[in-house]
Amino acid sequence: MQFPSALDLVVRALEQMRETSLRPPLASRKVLDELRAPERAQNLTALSGQVCTASKIGKLRELQTRVAVCTKCPHLARARTQTVFGVGDPDAELMFIGEAPGADEDAQGEPFVGRAGQLLTRIIKAMGFAREDVYIANILKCRPDMPAGSFGNRVPTPVEMQTCRPYLVEQIEVIQPKVLVALGAVAVEGLLGVRGTMRDLRGRWHTYNQMPLMITYHPAYLLRNQTPSEKRKVWEDMLLVLERLERPISEKQRNYFL
Ligand code: URA
Ligand code: URA
Repeated sequence: MQFPSALDLVVRALEQMRETSLRPPLASRKVLDELRAPERAQNLTALSGQVCTASKIGKLRELQTRVAVCTKCPHLARARTQTVFGVGDPDAELMFIGEAPGADEDAQGEPFVGRAGQLLTRIIKAMGFAREDVYIANILKCRPDMPAGSFGNRVPTPVEMQTCRPYLVEQIEVIQPKVLVALGAVAVEGLLGVRGTMRDLRGRWHTYNQMPLMITYHPAYLLRNQTPSEKRKVWEDMLLVLERLERPISEKQRNYFL
């Protein structure tokens, strides 16, 4: 930390003691004012940003610790390799919400790292972000269990989604993204409790807790339906997201097909 920021911390701590402690610090209001010269207001703003980010990191860590030992769904807790909490910038403007970890995610402990995840990462990059700039999480933190010896993934049940949803709700509350993107009808059902067809839901703005929510196809759907028209629809939804975030959109991006 830079010296001026450290000084700001000291001033803050003294002020707080002054207001809340029975034994006020031996620093007068005048000294505190002198310490905080007007040219340092900028430092103070930067500092409050750092404090805010630090508090988000702390809250997410605490939540992640609770999630890691969760046994609310005993069958999922038994079957999982580990929970898959979420990944990305705690200050992200943009947050993607998927369904549940698959086998790759269960093995690696990170959401969207399998084949669908690689496509999502490509979409994020085409939008002009790095994967680390956004936040990625799922409705379910555990991989839906599969019968022994069987492959593939199953859809989370409504009860599993309701049970796990509060963790996602907390993640969203901490991160406070400017825009949410729900990937697929199952994520929408988990988040909003609304069952709909993607045809009706995608491509327009919804809201979750007064936050703008875009609904688009799940990347796994695109892997199964590699038609230019379906891929273009997802990209058009992402262009709406970029507009909402007031991000510059290049001509190349406008004409892009995934
Ligand atoms: N599909 C999802 O919905 N989430 C993941 O994390 C991986 C695949
Ligand atoms: N459609 C919306 O626009 N918002 C909701 O919250 C649910 C469905």
